[in-house]
Formats: sequence, structure tokens, C-alpha cells
Amino acid sequence: VFAETPRAPRDPILGLTEQFVADPRTEKVNLGVGVYQDANGKVPILDCVRTVDAQLAAGGKPYGYLPIDGLPAYDAAVKELVFGAADHDRIAVVQSLGGTGALKVAADFLKQTTPDATVLISAPSWENHRAIFARAGLTVAEYPYYDAEHRRVDVDSMINTLRAAAPGSVVVLHACCHNPTGYDLTADDWQRVVDAVAERGLVPLLDMAYQGFAQSLTEDGAAVRRFVDAGLVTLVTTSFSKTFSLYGERIGALGVVCADADEAGRVLSQLKIIVRTTYSNPPTHGAAIVASVLTDPALRTQWESELAGMRDRIKQMRSALVDGLAAAGVTGQDHITRQNGMFSYSGLSKDQMITLRDDHAVYGLDSGRLCVAAINPGNLDRVISAIAAVAG
Ligand code: LMR
Repeated sequence: VFAETPRAPRDPILGLTEQFVADPRTEKVNLGVGVYQDANGKVPILDCVRTVDAQLAAGGKPYGYLPIDGLPAYDAAVKELVFGAADHDRIAVVQSLGGTGALKVAADFLKQTTPDATVLISAPSWENHRAIFARAGLTVAEYPYYDAEHRRVDVDSMINTLRAAAPGSVVVLHACCHNPTGYDLTADDWQRVVDAVAERGLVPLLDMAYQGFAQSLTEDGAAVRRFVDAGLVTLVTTSFSKTFSLYGERIGALGVVCADADEAGRVLSQLKIIVRTTYSNPPTHGAAIVASVLTDPALRTQWESELAGMRDRIKQMRSALVDGLAAAGVTGQDHITRQNGMFSYSGLSKDQMITLRDDHAVYGLDSGRLCVAAINPGNLDRVISAIAAVAG
């Protein structure tokens, strides 16, 4: 029955990790997948997470099922963190399997409620965005975003495209730390996007996988609040993979800001059906950790400081990369410090990225995306000399 099943291509991001793991070269560096590593090249366990882990182990709670929509304390904490002072009664939240799981539930819900809507994603966008919405059966198109020549966001073209989009189209926006480019919208740009979305009757979906990795929790979350304050029905997908360094726990959420509490109740009932028929209900551990940290004032303060530590270390590595490349003769790389978050769109071509991988054991995506959050003092010089060799 499966004799004719064709071999699917490797995933452009996680497939590269498979290739990296199989690479026998000891000096290899993985700047492919978006995973933060500390100054010693390790994925950190945050101290706030360690504390809660110990408490949970000592508490010895049984492993019962969570409600379909997740741990109630977690959902409430997510509402507070992501939506701030907005009216929580009109927001439907479900705990999800990371940011990807939130996007998948959102995509299935959109397919059910607005099956003919086109989903507009940025050009370029995270590779999985197109795949998730297309596989849910929705038509995916792009809006202009990255201006390669000037290394910036082409906001005028973006706005023009949004203003010409069919009413009811879904617009997927990166709330902060645009993946893959690292170039974010300014506050003025965001206002123009909100106005265009409102005037054209579009449906905004903000993907926020990196809240706190650009400037601060509040500043990075400002785009979400702009849409909510404008009274727009808005979907938000969020993730604690990066910000809590809880990648494998698969902990995220989908929030849908509705017109009123009654609508939110009806939307939540539909989201629960999607969850129930996909994975029944979510896992307990990650949600318990995040809820405990976010609701305990001391742990929350500790988390914010650990998050700031990760953010600052990435910025230091960006500066060190620019300086090191300049010293190696690769000048004009200041854009690296203008980008936000884990990623840098290096501007290297696919051929150069392949050479970087094959000849220098430095792994980045074919698009030219490098995960600067995985650079550390131990691999910085290798990364610099490898880039200098392929760029020179
Ligand atoms: C990335 O873009 O590398 C991360 O978001 C990890 C992933 O799931 O692709």
C-alpha cells in the first residue's frame, strides 16, 4: 500500500540539525536551528526553571490529564503576559504544543471558519509558516517585507500590498524578532500596518515566539496591544521555547481576541474540538513551570533578569561578529547589530551557505539565515574565519 510513497524532502531547519548531528567533524558549529546557547555553548536551564522543577519533583503530583484547553493557571498567566490589561473575558486561550502547535490549531480554525481566505505571510518568512497554512488547506500568498538591497523592511510595499488584499485575508505578522531576517517594524510602521489591516478588513495573526528577545517584554509585546487597542479581532500565537529555554517541553499558546465574551466562549468551544481531535489535551510539565514562574513575584523577577541576560549576550555576540568580520576584511556588516532576536539574515547566497557547511562545518540555512544566539566566545573565531573565507 505504501509502495509508491515518495520520499519527502528534509525539513529545511530541523533536517539540517539531522545533518549536523551526523557530521563527524568535531569543530562543527550549528547556526541553523533557532536554539539559544549560553557562553559555554550549552542550552541553558534557567535558574527559575530549576527552582520550580525541584518544587514539582518534591510535590509529587500525579500525572493526570489537563483540561482540553490547558492548565487554567497557565492560560490565565498567558493572558496577563501577552495581552496585559485588555479585557480577558473576550480572549479565548488554549495551551498549545509550542508555537508551531498554536499555529496549527489557528490554521485549522481559520480553515473551518474562513475556508476561502488567503493567508498572507511575509517575504521571506519562517519556512514552517507556509507549510502549516497550506497543509491546513488554505491558500498562502506573500506580502513584500525584506528589501535586500537596502537591508531593511520595505514597509511601503508591504502596506500597499495589504491595502490591496481581499477583505478577510489573514495577515501573519511577526510581533518581534522577525524570523528569518531579524529586521523589525518601527512603532510608526506598526501603526500603519494596524490602520491598513483595520481599513481593509483583514484578520491579523501575530506570531510572537520571541517576546523579550529584542528590547523587553513590554516593548516586544507592544504590537499585540496595538491591534487589541484598535478593537480588532486578533489571533496571537506565542511560545516559551526560547524565552524559558523549554524547547522540548513544547509549551506555547494560541490566543484569539474576540468581539465580546460570548464570541470568545464560542471560539474557545471550537478550538477545544480541534485540540481534542488532534492530541486530546496538552502535556502538564511545561505549563506547570511557566505558570509557577509567571505568577510568583520573585521567580518572575528572576526570569525577567535571566531573559535579559540571554538578550544581552546575543547583542554582545552581534557586536563581536561585526568587529571580528571587519578585522578579517569583511566590512559593512553593521546591519547585524540592527537586527533583533536570534537570527541574522547574512546576505550570503545559497552557494556560499553550502560552502560554509561543506568546507567549514558551519551550519546555517540555505536562505542565508544564521542563528547568532548559538555563537559564543568558544566558536566566534571559527565562525568569523569561515564567513570571511566564503564572503571574501
Ligand atoms: C527556527 O526557526 O529555527 C525555530 O523556530 C525552530 C523551528 O521549529 O524551526
